[in-house]
Amino acid sequence: MDFDEIVRTRRSIRRFKPEKIDRQIFLLLLESARCAPSAANKQPIEYIIVDEPQFTEQLFGQLSWAGYVQPRRNPAPESRPAAYIVVLVVSKRALGDFGKVDAAAAIENIILTAWSKGIGSCWLGAIQRENIREILVVPEHFQIDSVIALGYPDEKPVMEDAKNDSDEGLKYYIDDSDKLHVPKRPLDSICHLNRYGTACVKLVSYNSHICCPGPRRDRGLPRIS
Ligand SMILES: Cc1cc2nc3c(=O)[nH]c(=O)nc-3n(C[C@H](O)[C@H](O)[C@H](O)COP(=O)(O)O)c2cc1C
Repeated sequence: MDFDEIVRTRRSIRRFKPEKIDRQIFLLLLESARCAPSAANKQPIEYIIVDEPQFTEQLFGQLSWAGYVQPRRNPAPESRPAAYIVVLVVSKRALGDFGKVDAAAAIENIILTAWSKGIGSCWLGAIQRENIREILVVPEHFQIDSVIALGYPDEKPVMEDAKNDSDEGLKYYIDDSDKLHVPKRPLDSICHLNRYGTACVKLVSYNSHICCPGPRRDRGLPRIS
């Protein structure tokens, strides 16, 4: 996969194969994490890799999955993630409130690098932080930002243009064949040229081409003139 394809085909995965993840891979993921941008280069983020069953099982109980389609994307015991990365922020190191922003940049690097190696992920923010602190013995001066679930994917969610911009129109949903659909706001809803409210007409006409992954239909985007 080239970079565009990695970015566009990555979807949150909530069903995994039972395969383990080689520990070398975690080093690669954290190498990507530490390359991420960081406000004032303070780098207040640290990580706990969790891959042993005595911990993964306890951690699983502290996570909430796919609220819009509950309980249909709660991973069954045989479909649970192989491992997790727990993302911590040392607030006193961060530049003001930017700790969470730094964490987000690092997390995106991790999940894209994982996908480039065929590993699916789900970024989890609805988590029982105080229980996780106890289970993993996280000192008080760390904030527990997020948990990243990792494993080899056993589902293929699809992305599509959202039909409307309402809260309802942006909810992911499951179709009759149990496939998860993820609506994304189309370019004409989010893209303005030079001034707010000015449509990027040429870009918009290419929207459907660049939204949907597949054959390289997106080569040669038009110049905006
Ligand atoms: C900050 C953040 C927190 C999230 N928390 C959860 C969560 O607790 N549980 C979950 O199942 N998905 C969670 N997600 C995944 C989103 O539901 C998912 O990214 C969104 O539906 C879009 O799907 P996509 O990642 O396939 O593009 C979270 C994503 C982000 C960025």
